[in-house]
Amino acid sequence: MKHRSSAWFGPKDRDGFIHRSWMKNQGLPDDLFDGRPVIGICNTWSELTPCNAHFRDLAEHVKRGVYEAGGFPLEFPVMSMGETLMRPTAMLFRNLVSMDVEESIRANPIDGVVLLAGCDKTTPALLMGAASCDLPALMVSGGPMLNGKFRGQDIGSGTDVWKLSEDVRRGVIDECDFLEAEGCMNRSAGHCMTMGTASTMASVVEALGIGLPTNAAIPAVDARRYTLAHLAGRRVVEMVKEDLRMSRILTCDAFKNAIRVVAAIGGSTSAVIHLLAIAARIGVCLNLDDWDRLGRDVPCLVNLMPAGKYLMEDFYYAGGLPAVISELGDLIERDALTVNGKTIGENTADAPCHNRDVIRPLSDPVRTDAGVAVLRGNLCPSGAIIKPSAATPELMTHRGRAVVFETIEDFRTRIDDPNLDVDESCVLVLKNCGPRGYPGMPEVGNMPLPTKLLRKGITDMVRISDARMSGTAYGTVVLHVAPEAAAGGALAIVQDGDMIDLDVALRKLNLDVPESEIKRRLEAWKPPEAPSERGYSKLYYDHVMQADRGADFDFLVGGSGAAVPRESH
Ligand code: FES
Repeated sequence: MKHRSSAWFGPKDRDGFIHRSWMKNQGLPDDLFDGRPVIGICNTWSELTPCNAHFRDLAEHVKRGVYEAGGFPLEFPVMSMGETLMRPTAMLFRNLVSMDVEESIRANPIDGVVLLAGCDKTTPALLMGAASCDLPALMVSGGPMLNGKFRGQDIGSGTDVWKLSEDVRRGVIDECDFLEAEGCMNRSAGHCMTMGTASTMASVVEALGIGLPTNAAIPAVDARRYTLAHLAGRRVVEMVKEDLRMSRILTCDAFKNAIRVVAAIGGSTSAVIHLLAIAARIGVCLNLDDWDRLGRDVPCLVNLMPAGKYLMEDFYYAGGLPAVISELGDLIERDALTVNGKTIGENTADAPCHNRDVIRPLSDPVRTDAGVAVLRGNLCPSGAIIKPSAATPELMTHRGRAVVFETIEDFRTRIDDPNLDVDESCVLVLKNCGPRGYPGMPEVGNMPLPTKLLRKGITDMVRISDARMSGTAYGTVVLHVAPEAAAGGALAIVQDGDMIDLDVALRKLNLDVPESEIKRRLEAWKPPEAPSERGYSKLYYDHVMQADRGADFDFLVGGSGAAVPRESH
């Protein structure tokens, strides 16, 4: 079988000379160019992405496996996105990285790819870009950090940042205590070890079948993570020989499985946006309502923060994702094919569970209403979402007076003003934090509560925005309102004092203002100025779609395959 890379390395002419000769400056022998599968290792390593900082080592283990199986590994970098450092938000760059991945794969003599991802946005970006080329591809996640340990207690990355900072504001702990926790939380290589977006997306990788079994939970520093990378290197060579392309793995059934698994693990709401975008790249018809329809009956089985009490290290020792998939039984499309050539049913048939408090049986779940609820109404005609497992049950049906913040800066300036007219029955409304409005749809939807209410012992309020929230966060938080305020959605014209009705059971979110008044306000509304007249921000602003379309660029939907007919010289 002639592989794609033969078009570069095969010819004995001037072009073949150029392609081979310059590569040989790395000390590569002749026989590596004999037509064997060339495996790209797409690396998001960066010291600015601490969650992926161990990826050079991981890539070395992939290479061992590739060589062993008779392939020719070539590692290449793509732009990395660190969640904790990038401003205004790493999400702004997810689509840019997906373009980098797509074009890097297509432009080069690559027959199959191992994708190395970890920190939140790196996983969807790599899957989106690779899907648009549709070569044989397999993802290896970087793995979670070990459990955080603070004064004898487990603490979780993200989740305990929110808790500890609220404790400072409440006066429960002081700044010294808070800063001491800093070195105790994130103490090994790896990504956030709560069931935040990174762990959710690593689980999605396994549930989609685009990663090997156990990919989701092996800690980054556990030797078995490196064994997995080694095996992935071996396997991808076989995948090239079998022509097992992404489109054969990322089927409609695979996405159904991923949605149900996200519910069962109490996963991050950001998975909604990312899976919609990945599906659209590979040509699978998935829409926002599928999340509600498919996830509604799935209970949360995994007792991990933020919905529960344990962390990813505990999850791995308890059996990890194979145990969850096995427990889900008929809720899983068991015939879906995975990258190891077996179905997901075959991979998980005998998966054991070693700790029933970490991975609960279907008969005794952590929560019964675990899926993502998709809300509709005059405030969100294209949809909004809420994660019931992270919300307060008593607030799931709520009518309250809106307290409105026009921007995140407005929110930060006024939220702790003792004179702010707010009580615990109010609904906090934050505008202009959607894809176009921020730009980039940051994780600010879990707005901190007013200090004066925290001091009264209030722990949750209904909050509504067009933003996302960190997968490590919690609360009765309505997110991803579409259309967003900056695109002229009804959110833009909500005013202080308007009454808002939330009914999660009925999937309703309404602004109790007469339609004629809504129309009048919308006619008087002026869109905010574009954030920039040039560069990537302008491209983003002009082309990003709304949350219900995965916030991808309109011109990136679908794929272009991997063919490039023209030579470079
Ligand atoms: Fe990278 Fe949480 S900051 S995964």
